[in-house]
Amino acid sequence: MKDSPKNPGRRQLLKTLGGATAVGAASTLIPGCDAKQKATAVNLSFREIPHSLDFEHHLPQEYSADILLRWGDPIDDNTAEFRPQALTAQSQLHRFGYNNDFIAFMPLAADIPAERGDLHYRSNNSTRGLLCVNHEYTQPHLMFPGYNNKYSATRGVSAEHVAIEQAACGHSVVEIARGDKGWQVILDSPYNRRITLTTAMQIRGPAAGDKRLQTAADPSGTRVLGTIGNCAGGKTPWGTVLIAEEGFGGAFQGAPDDIEDPREARNHRDFGISPHNRNLGDYDRRFDIQHEPNEPNRFGWMVEYDPYDPQSVPRKLTSLGRFEHEGFTLVCKPGQAVVAYGGDDDEHQFVYRYVSKDIYKPDDTAHNRQLLTEGTLYAARFGEDGSGQWLPLIVGQGPLIRENGFRSQADVLIDARRAAALMGATPMDRPEDVETNPHNDCTYVMLTKNKKRGKDAVDAANPRPRNTAGHVLEIVPPGSTGKRDHTSNHFRWQQFLLGGNPNAENPAERGAYGQQSHYNISSHGWFANPDNVAFDPRGNMWVATDGCERFGFHDGLWAMATEGPLRAAPKHFFGCPQGAEVCGPEFTPDGKTLFVAVQHPAEARNSTFSSPLHRWPDNDPNLPPRPSVLAIYRDDGGEVGR
Ligand code: FEO
Ligand code: CA
Ligand code: CA
Repeated sequence: MKDSPKNPGRRQLLKTLGGATAVGAASTLIPGCDAKQKATAVNLSFREIPHSLDFEHHLPQEYSADILLRWGDPIDDNTAEFRPQALTAQSQLHRFGYNNDFIAFMPLAADIPAERGDLHYRSNNSTRGLLCVNHEYTQPHLMFPGYNNKYSATRGVSAEHVAIEQAACGHSVVEIARGDKGWQVILDSPYNRRITLTTAMQIRGPAAGDKRLQTAADPSGTRVLGTIGNCAGGKTPWGTVLIAEEGFGGAFQGAPDDIEDPREARNHRDFGISPHNRNLGDYDRRFDIQHEPNEPNRFGWMVEYDPYDPQSVPRKLTSLGRFEHEGFTLVCKPGQAVVAYGGDDDEHQFVYRYVSKDIYKPDDTAHNRQLLTEGTLYAARFGEDGSGQWLPLIVGQGPLIRENGFRSQADVLIDARRAAALMGATPMDRPEDVETNPHNDCTYVMLTKNKKRGKDAVDAANPRPRNTAGHVLEIVPPGSTGKRDHTSNHFRWQQFLLGGNPNAENPAERGAYGQQSHYNISSHGWFANPDNVAFDPRGNMWVATDGCERFGFHDGLWAMATEGPLRAAPKHFFGCPQGAEVCGPEFTPDGKTLFVAVQHPAEARNSTFSSPLHRWPDNDPNLPPRPSVLAIYRDDGGEVGR
């Protein structure tokens, strides 16, 4: 149902998009990344769901969802059904982890050797595959009895609970298959595995072995235990998965001010390490910076691993820089360097790009598996006139010199934030997913919000002071669709949409969608706080949100075209149970299944294990609310969204 046409007309839209700055070319809504591109939104014919807020998930009428994996579900056939009161750290190692986030569907095809992940990946099989899922963080007050609220678990958690938490974060690999009964977990699959905060990993790339990565437990600076803050990620055509380390600072306790080296003190402060953080370091000493000041430098990286080899040792890729990684997504064109895009999800942090030193060779997997270890990292500068530049972060270039604390490339990568700032990159409104639409070859940056941006600090790329609703920005590399040069150091950019209510009274808070004044999205078509993004096989953009409850309705998914008359005009597809954000979204290659991760359901003030806001998805008085992955499909078997 469409609302009365109260949306801003085109002139108003341009004014809104200009925000407090002058309306430059960058702020005008030009007809799309590629004007010649065919419109895709005619295919988005699902019946839109309303904005609402309750204890259920919501889908259009003609769709169903299987609850595929919940926190605590066994991932092998030797593990008993989940009973929260009986949970031990040892048993959690064999169970799906907590707070599911990024999802990669990695196809499995018959008659292909297990180790040929690249061939499995290219098989595009959409009925059998590995579901690779991040587990971002743990919430003891919702996982265990005995905590009155989230603060009571901050410094008072027990050793036993810490051990379970360490086993419940990280990542899961689970084989799934679609049969007559929908999607099922294959419990006896040899591929199923957990990656946790204690899994052995390698450190690779230019910073590996650097003094600042050496600890008492690892004098080599090349081996580390575990990963944490695993938010979003990416996939590679050589059959590996990338997982991001985002909010790792919260796992460390101690006083940065007491660290002797002022540069390291600043580094630790910058990632939120403080004596008031959770006291994991009381039980696992490396998480106390007074005990092990270099351990935090071994987190905040992208991690690459091979889900097709359950014995594979994950690698932290220092070449992609160290910051609060949301994720990294790839553009791989045969015979060209691999380009990867990522964001640093913090206020006033940057958008990054990596360009590999060597070229991508589709048939040489051994070669491709080194492409993310050697290359150049760049940070983005968004000009006021719609031009943009990638600034290389290379020691010795510009201000990245010894006098500024950069003695080596390792320093540049460990302190990538500081390097990017000194180079003049544009501080952004919390960059989340950055992903390229294969359909038009343009790259989209989700900017979730930034309440800290002052009136005087707005610019064309971040046009709103106190940006509560976030926005989506479009990067247009030079060249035409399919032939865009993502390796060029220059690009054009424009605003794609501004989150928020298009009918908001305050112009500074007014959202802006669509390119034509006659098009009016419905009253449920608007959203705020874009976080994750996916593109369906037809090139439609699917945005997952984190923060809409502050606007009065659930977080969820909104789908829209990126080209044509319905460009940037969203339709509401999925809604979360209260308290949750939605992560993932991931399509099977045929577009017939959409996986979503519902994270932190029932998170709310005073909501605890013993007295939760609700108990989604089981609604069983003996079970707490459980973060879960859903497999969504159309009842008639067609493509999702069409
Ligand atoms: Fe973990 Fe940036 O969301
Ligand atoms: Ca996220
Ligand atoms: Ca989030």
